[in-house]
Amino acid sequence: MAPGMVIGITGASGIVYGVRALELLREAGVPTHLVVSRAGGMTRAHESELSAQRLRELADEHHPVGDLGASIASGSFRTLGMLVAPCTVNTLAEIANGISGNLLTRAADVTLKERRPLVLMVRETPLTAIHLRNMQRITEAGGIIAPPVPAFYAAPGSLDEMVTHSVARALDLFGLDLVPSRWREDDHARTPTESDPPRTDREDMR
Ligand SMILES: Cc1cc2nc3c(=O)[nH]c(=O)nc-3n(C[C@H](O)[C@H](O)[C@H](O)COP(=O)(O)O)c2cc1C
Repeated sequence: MAPGMVIGITGASGIVYGVRALELLREAGVPTHLVVSRAGGMTRAHESELSAQRLRELADEHHPVGDLGASIASGSFRTLGMLVAPCTVNTLAEIANGISGNLLTRAADVTLKERRPLVLMVRETPLTAIHLRNMQRITEAGGIIAPPVPAFYAAPGSLDEMVTHSVARALDLFGLDLVPSRWREDDHARTPTESDPPRTDREDMR
Protein backbone atom coordinates (compact mmCIF):
# COMPACT_ATOMS: atom_id res chain seq x y z
CA MET A 1 0.00 0.00 0.00
CA ALA A 2 1.27 3.50 -0.85
CA PRO A 3 1.97 5.76 2.15
CA GLY A 4 -1.34 6.87 3.61
CA MET A 5 -2.77 9.44 5.94
CA VAL A 6 -3.37 8.74 9.62
CA ILE A 7 -6.76 9.95 10.80
CA GLY A 8 -7.37 10.28 14.53
CA ILE A 9 -10.87 10.76 15.87
CA THR A 10 -11.19 11.88 19.49
CA GLY A 11 -14.12 12.61 21.78
CA ALA A 12 -14.83 16.23 20.85
CA SER A 13 -18.09 17.27 19.31
CA GLY A 14 -17.93 16.95 15.52
CA ILE A 15 -17.19 13.34 14.60
CA VAL A 16 -18.58 14.35 11.22
CA TYR A 17 -15.25 16.09 10.51
CA GLY A 18 -13.30 12.86 10.84
CA VAL A 19 -15.90 10.96 8.85
CA ARG A 20 -15.79 13.53 6.03
CA ALA A 21 -11.97 13.39 5.97
CA LEU A 22 -12.12 9.62 5.52
CA GLU A 23 -14.71 10.00 2.73
CA LEU A 24 -12.75 12.68 0.86
CA LEU A 25 -9.50 10.74 1.10
CA ARG A 26 -11.16 7.57 -0.15
CA GLU A 27 -12.63 9.48 -3.11
CA ALA A 28 -9.13 10.79 -3.86
CA GLY A 29 -7.57 7.33 -3.62
CA VAL A 30 -5.43 8.24 -0.59
CA PRO A 31 -5.07 5.25 1.79
CA THR A 32 -6.12 5.90 5.38
CA HIS A 33 -5.19 4.53 8.80
CA LEU A 34 -7.86 5.19 11.40
CA VAL A 35 -7.53 5.32 15.16
CA VAL A 36 -10.45 6.34 17.38
CA SER A 37 -10.08 7.23 21.05
CA ARG A 38 -12.45 5.67 23.59
CA ALA A 39 -14.25 8.99 24.01
CA GLY A 40 -14.41 9.21 20.20
CA GLY A 41 -16.52 6.05 20.33
CA MET A 42 -18.88 7.81 22.74
CA THR A 43 -19.34 10.88 20.54
CA ARG A 44 -19.82 8.62 17.51
CA ALA A 45 -22.75 6.97 19.25
CA HIS A 46 -24.04 10.34 20.48
CA GLU A 47 -23.72 12.38 17.29
CA SER A 48 -23.98 9.96 14.38
CA GLU A 49 -25.90 7.00 13.09
CA LEU A 50 -22.68 5.16 12.25
CA SER A 51 -21.91 1.90 14.00
CA ALA A 52 -18.32 1.37 15.15
CA GLN A 53 -17.95 -1.22 12.38
CA ARG A 54 -19.25 1.13 9.67
CA LEU A 55 -16.86 3.84 10.83
CA ARG A 56 -13.93 1.40 10.66
CA GLU A 57 -14.95 0.42 7.12
CA LEU A 58 -14.48 4.02 5.95
CA ALA A 59 -10.73 3.54 6.44
CA ASP A 60 -8.35 1.24 4.63
CA GLU A 61 -6.89 0.15 7.95
CA HIS A 62 -8.29 0.52 11.44
CA HIS A 63 -6.02 0.26 14.49
CA PRO A 64 -7.42 -0.18 18.02
CA VAL A 65 -6.42 2.76 20.24
CA GLY A 66 -4.74 0.38 22.70
CA ASP A 67 -2.58 -1.28 20.06
CA LEU A 68 0.77 0.36 20.71
CA GLY A 69 2.41 -2.22 18.47
CA ALA A 70 0.54 -1.04 15.37
CA SER A 71 2.46 0.11 12.29
CA ILE A 72 1.62 3.79 12.83
CA ALA A 73 3.31 3.71 16.28
CA SER A 74 6.68 3.48 14.54
CA GLY A 75 8.54 6.30 12.81
CA SER A 76 9.98 3.86 10.28
CA PHE A 77 6.45 3.30 8.91
CA ARG A 78 6.05 6.00 6.28
CA THR A 79 2.89 8.11 6.21
CA LEU A 80 1.77 11.36 4.62
CA GLY A 81 1.10 12.80 8.07
CA MET A 82 -1.75 12.80 10.56
CA LEU A 83 -5.01 14.69 10.93
CA VAL A 84 -6.89 14.61 14.23
CA ALA A 85 -10.50 15.54 13.51
CA PRO A 86 -12.08 16.44 15.80
CA CYS A 87 -9.39 16.93 18.45
CA THR A 88 -10.25 17.32 22.14
CA VAL A 89 -8.35 19.62 24.43
CA ASN A 90 -7.39 16.47 26.34
CA THR A 91 -5.63 14.96 23.32
CA LEU A 92 -4.19 18.39 22.48
CA ALA A 93 -2.70 18.51 26.01
CA GLU A 94 -1.26 15.01 25.77
CA ILE A 95 0.38 15.62 22.39
CA ALA A 96 1.64 19.06 23.43
CA ASN A 97 3.36 17.52 26.42
CA GLY A 98 4.80 14.46 24.74
CA ILE A 99 2.46 12.03 26.47
CA SER A 100 1.94 9.09 24.16
CA GLY A 101 0.20 6.45 26.22
CA ASN A 102 -2.24 5.33 23.56
CA LEU A 103 -1.90 4.67 19.84
CA LEU A 104 -3.52 7.96 18.83
CA THR A 105 -1.20 10.16 20.87
CA ARG A 106 1.80 7.94 20.05
CA ALA A 107 1.08 8.25 16.30
CA ALA A 108 0.84 12.04 16.71
CA ASP A 109 4.14 12.13 18.62
CA VAL A 110 5.77 10.04 15.90
CA THR A 111 4.39 12.36 13.23
CA LEU A 112 6.01 15.35 14.97
CA LYS A 113 9.33 13.62 15.59
CA GLU A 114 9.56 12.52 11.96
CA ARG A 115 8.77 16.12 10.91
CA ARG A 116 5.67 15.08 9.01
CA PRO A 117 2.55 17.27 8.91
CA LEU A 118 0.35 17.05 12.00
CA VAL A 119 -2.93 18.96 11.87
CA LEU A 120 -5.23 19.17 14.89
CA MET A 121 -8.82 20.30 14.35
CA VAL A 122 -9.24 21.31 17.99
CA ARG A 123 -12.88 21.83 19.00
CA GLU A 124 -13.55 23.54 22.28
CA THR A 125 -14.93 26.89 23.34
CA PRO A 126 -14.24 29.05 25.22
CA LEU A 127 -10.50 28.44 25.54
CA THR A 128 -8.39 28.68 28.70
CA ALA A 129 -4.80 29.86 28.98
CA ILE A 130 -3.88 26.18 29.34
CA HIS A 131 -5.48 25.31 25.99
CA LEU A 132 -3.80 28.27 24.33
CA ARG A 133 -0.39 27.37 25.75
CA ASN A 134 -0.77 23.81 24.52
CA MET A 135 -1.71 25.11 21.07
CA GLN A 136 1.41 27.24 21.09
CA ARG A 137 3.57 24.25 22.08
CA ILE A 138 2.18 22.21 19.19
CA THR A 139 2.83 25.08 16.79
CA GLU A 140 6.40 25.48 18.06
CA ALA A 141 6.96 21.75 17.54
CA GLY A 142 5.90 22.05 13.90
CA GLY A 143 2.26 20.98 14.18
CA ILE A 144 -0.70 22.99 12.94
CA ILE A 145 -3.74 23.97 14.98
CA ALA A 146 -6.68 24.24 12.57
CA PRO A 147 -9.96 24.53 14.45
CA PRO A 148 -13.05 23.83 12.34
CA VAL A 149 -14.21 27.43 12.04
CA PRO A 150 -16.94 27.99 9.43
CA ALA A 151 -16.10 30.29 6.51
CA PHE A 152 -19.15 32.32 5.62
CA TYR A 153 -17.50 33.91 2.57
CA ALA A 154 -17.97 30.52 0.91
CA ALA A 155 -21.76 30.98 1.30
CA PRO A 156 -22.38 27.36 2.30
CA GLY A 157 -25.84 26.16 1.35
CA SER A 158 -25.96 23.51 4.05
CA LEU A 159 -24.24 22.21 7.16
CA ASP A 160 -22.86 19.44 4.98
CA GLU A 161 -21.13 21.95 2.67
CA MET A 162 -19.76 23.79 5.69
CA VAL A 163 -18.24 20.59 7.06
CA THR A 164 -16.75 19.67 3.67
CA HIS A 165 -15.23 23.13 3.36
CA SER A 166 -13.61 22.95 6.82
CA VAL A 167 -12.20 19.48 6.22
CA ALA A 168 -10.96 20.35 2.73
CA ARG A 169 -9.11 23.35 4.18
CA ALA A 170 -7.47 21.07 6.76
CA LEU A 171 -6.48 18.57 4.05
CA ASP A 172 -5.07 21.46 2.03
CA LEU A 173 -2.42 21.73 4.73
CA PHE A 174 -1.06 18.36 3.59
CA GLY A 175 -0.78 19.58 0.00
CA LEU A 176 -3.82 17.51 -0.94
CA ASP A 177 -6.00 19.56 -3.25
CA LEU A 178 -9.18 17.55 -2.80
CA VAL A 179 -11.87 20.19 -3.01
CA PRO A 180 -11.51 23.44 -4.96
CA SER A 181 -12.91 25.59 -2.16
CA ARG A 182 -10.50 28.47 -2.41
CA TRP A 183 -11.29 32.15 -2.25
CA ARG A 184 -11.69 33.42 -5.78
CA GLU A 185 -11.53 37.15 -6.25
CA ASP A 186 -13.94 37.09 -9.21
CA ASP A 187 -16.65 35.51 -7.05
CA HIS A 188 -16.43 38.22 -4.45
CA ALA A 189 -15.75 41.28 -6.54
CA ARG A 190 -19.06 42.86 -5.63
CA THR A 191 -21.70 42.60 -2.95
CA PRO A 192 -24.47 40.15 -3.98
CA THR A 193 -27.87 41.69 -4.71
CA GLU A 194 -31.34 40.26 -4.16
CA SER A 195 -31.61 39.40 -7.85
CA ASP A 196 -28.55 37.12 -7.68
CA PRO A 197 -29.38 33.40 -7.83
CA PRO A 198 -29.03 31.50 -4.56
CA ARG A 199 -25.48 30.19 -4.15
CA THR A 200 -26.37 26.68 -2.98
CA ASP A 201 -25.21 25.00 -6.20
CA ARG A 202 -21.72 26.43 -6.26
CA GLU A 203 -19.20 24.24 -8.01
CA ASP A 204 -16.44 25.50 -5.78
CA MET A 205 -17.99 24.09 -2.62
CA ARG A 206 -18.11 20.51 -3.80
C1 LIG B 1 -21.04 14.39 23.89
C2 LIG B 1 -19.67 14.88 24.28
C3 LIG B 1 -19.15 16.00 23.67
C4 LIG B 1 -17.87 16.45 24.00
N1 LIG B 1 -17.37 17.55 23.35
C5 LIG B 1 -16.10 17.94 23.59
C6 LIG B 1 -15.53 18.99 22.80
O1 LIG B 1 -16.17 19.57 21.92
N2 LIG B 1 -14.24 19.31 23.03
C7 LIG B 1 -13.47 18.68 23.98
O2 LIG B 1 -12.30 19.03 24.10
N3 LIG B 1 -14.00 17.69 24.76
C8 LIG B 1 -15.28 17.30 24.57
N4 LIG B 1 -15.82 16.27 25.31
C9 LIG B 1 -15.03 15.70 26.42
C10 LIG B 1 -14.03 14.63 25.98
O3 LIG B 1 -14.70 13.58 25.32
C11 LIG B 1 -13.28 14.09 27.21
O4 LIG B 1 -12.44 15.11 27.74
C12 LIG B 1 -12.44 12.86 26.91
O5 LIG B 1 -11.75 12.46 28.08
C13 LIG B 1 -11.46 13.11 25.80
O6 LIG B 1 -10.72 11.93 25.55
P1 LIG B 1 -9.88 11.78 24.21
O7 LIG B 1 -9.04 13.00 24.06
O8 LIG B 1 -9.02 10.56 24.46
O9 LIG B 1 -10.83 11.55 23.10
C14 LIG B 1 -17.10 15.79 25.00
C15 LIG B 1 -17.65 14.67 25.63
C16 LIG B 1 -18.90 14.21 25.27
C17 LIG B 1 -19.46 12.99 25.95
